[in-house]
Amino acid sequence: MEFLLKSFYEDLTMRAFASLSIAALAICSLAAGAQQRSVPRQAVALTPPMGWNSWNHFAGNVNDKDIRDAADQLVATGMKDAGYIYVNIDDTWEGERDANGELHANAKFPDMKALAEYVHSKGLKIGIYSSPGSKTCGGYEGSLGHEQQDAQLYADWGFDYLKYDLCSFRGDVMDKQAPNDKPAQMRLMIAAYAKMDRALKAAGRPIVFSFCQYGWDAVWEWGPSVGANLWRTTGDVTPDWDRIYAIVSQQEGLEKYAGPGHWNDPDMLEVGNGKLTLEEDRTHFSMWAMLAAPLLAGNDLPNMKPEIKAILTNRDVIAIDQDRLGRQGARIYSDGEVEVWTRHLAGGALAIAVVAVGDSRYSTHPFHLNLHKLGLAGRQTGKDLWTGRTVELTENMPLELTSHDVLLVRIGAPKVLVQ
Ligand code: GLA
Repeated sequence: MEFLLKSFYEDLTMRAFASLSIAALAICSLAAGAQQRSVPRQAVALTPPMGWNSWNHFAGNVNDKDIRDAADQLVATGMKDAGYIYVNIDDTWEGERDANGELHANAKFPDMKALAEYVHSKGLKIGIYSSPGSKTCGGYEGSLGHEQQDAQLYADWGFDYLKYDLCSFRGDVMDKQAPNDKPAQMRLMIAAYAKMDRALKAAGRPIVFSFCQYGWDAVWEWGPSVGANLWRTTGDVTPDWDRIYAIVSQQEGLEKYAGPGHWNDPDMLEVGNGKLTLEEDRTHFSMWAMLAAPLLAGNDLPNMKPEIKAILTNRDVIAIDQDRLGRQGARIYSDGEVEVWTRHLAGGALAIAVVAVGDSRYSTHPFHLNLHKLGLAGRQTGKDLWTGRTVELTENMPLELTSHDVLLVRIGAPKVLVQ
C-alpha cells in the first residue's frame, strides 16, 4: 500500500506538472498576443469541453433557429455561467459543393458566418461536424478530398470545435484500398484523422478536435498524437439506463489515457431525454463527471424542466468533472449490484460515487461501504453533492440506494491508509 500511495503521489505530481506546463504554454502564446495559430491544440481543452450538441434532441431536424435558441437558452438558464460554452451543430447542416469544390450549408442554415457571429455575441463558442469520408453518417457531404478547403471554411466562418465522424470513410477508403487487411485499414483511418489535424492547424484558428470513430483500434493510444482533444470510446449513447450503464462499464481501464487537453469521450449527455428517471439522470451526470467526460448536454433546452436544469447546473458535480488535475476516475470495486468508483482531485481531495446498478426489483437493498478498499482509514467527512449536506462515512456503514441512484461524495481532506 505504501508503494501504491507513493506511486500515486508521484503520478499526481507529474500530472500537476504536465497540466501546469500546458497551461504555461497556453498563457505564453496568448500573452505574446500572437496570432491564433500559435495556440497549442491541447490548450483549447485543458478541462473537458462543456456545451450542448444538437444530435440527441434534434437528430436530422436541426436548423439555424434551433441553434440560436440553444445559445439563448444556455444564457437564460444559467447553463453558460455554469460552464456550458460550446453550441455544437451535429450532422445534417451540409449542402452541396460548388464548381470550386467549396462546400455550402443547406437551406436549413442560410448563413453560417452570421450564425457563428450570433453565438459568439452571446459569449459562447460554436461547433461543427463532418466526416473524413465522402458522406457523413446521415448521408450528407463529407470532407474526403476537401480537408484543407473545409478546415479553412470552418475557420473563416468562425467555428471553434469540429466533431469528425468516421462514417463512410470505412466503405469509401478502408474497404476499397485495403480489402481484408485490417492493419492497413487502421493505418488509413489514423492517416485520415492526422490529415484533418494538419488542415485545422494550417487554417490557423484554435479548434477543439473531437474524434468520433467509436473507439476503433484503441484510439486512446494514438488519438492525442494526431491532435485529438477528445475521442469517442464507444458506439452511440441512447437515453436508456442499460446503454448508459454499458458505456460506463466500457470506460474501465481507459482512465490512464485521459488528462488535460485529451479526454475519453463516452458520448454526449442524455440527461432529460427519453424515459430516464431522475435517479438515472443524476447517476448519468455523476458518472460523466467521475469519468472526466466532456459534458455536452443534448436535451430540449427551451422546454427543460426545473429538475433537469438543477441536475445539469449542479456546480459541485461540474467541479468534479472540471477538476484541474484532469485525472479520470476508476471503478475500485463492485459488490453484487453496487459499484464504488473514486476520482482523485486537485489538492488531495477525493470524489466517491456509490452506484446502485441493479434493477428495481431489488431496489434499496442494504450494502456496506468498505472504506479500506478505497485506501481510506476510518471515519471521513465529506459533502453529499446531490443533497448539499455534510456526511460522515464510516467503515462498513450500511447504505441503501434506490435502484440506479448514486451517492456522490467529495472528501476535501481524506484520511488515507499509510501502510
Ligand atoms: C454517428 C455519431 C453520432 C451522430 C450521428 C450523426 O452515429 O456517432 O454521435 O453524430 O452519427 O449522423
